[in-house]
Amino acid sequence: MAGKFIVLEGVEGCGKSTQLQLLARHLPASQSFQRVRRQLPTPPILTSREPGGTDLGVRLRHLLLHQDSQVSIDPRAELLLYAADRAQHVDQVIKPALDRGCWVLCDRFIDSTLAYQGYGRGLDLDLIHQLNRLATAGLAPDLTLWLQLPVEQGLARARQQGGGDRIERADLAFHRRVQHGFETLAQQYPQNRARIEANGSPTAVSAAILSVVEIYLEQWYPKDLAT
Ligand code: TMP
Repeated sequence: MAGKFIVLEGVEGCGKSTQLQLLARHLPASQSFQRVRRQLPTPPILTSREPGGTDLGVRLRHLLLHQDSQVSIDPRAELLLYAADRAQHVDQVIKPALDRGCWVLCDRFIDSTLAYQGYGRGLDLDLIHQLNRLATAGLAPDLTLWLQLPVEQGLARARQQGGGDRIERADLAFHRRVQHGFETLAQQYPQNRARIEANGSPTAVSAAILSVVEIYLEQWYPKDLAT
């Protein structure tokens, strides 16, 4: 049986990377996951991220984000580089892992391109949807968790943690448009998207995430099939 594909999304500094690790650590112990384990061979959990989930992706990530990267990048070129990263990632990592029955937890996916390059940079949303379909070969997440945090709070956190990469350094208005993008996506496509309030402690946010994932686990693997 194919594994499940869960994505964490949100603005800079919303805590997705920490939460991804916490989810990977706590999910195997959750009651619903334990029950699924009794129906299926133990599904291994793989964590990954975009950009940068493959060897090519690591190089693209450096070009796209690194503070030392002196390359100037046009918004359309930026869009295509994220799409190239995704095509390689889906083909080499995500799809094979899901086919093996792994669960894949990924830090960012298609919603980031819609939010950053679409709402943020102002590129055509229909075109991005098409490009996402090309890059993913039609693969969509089973669940996207949007970690909602006010932009100013997230940027302050992100800037405390590091010097600020190329996108973090963009102006506040850009990040506000990105936030509006995530908000709009959550409203437009509520199926398989959940909003998580991310301004609590990491433990509280992790518990909120786990309880949402448990609800989806109940839907994906209904109890009466367990017996
Ligand atoms: P992060 O992994 O630290 O969140 O950094 C990734 C950066 O790349 C973040 O600023 C969001 C940006 N990004 C896009 O602009 N478009 C995309 O499609 C993806 C995946 C990320």
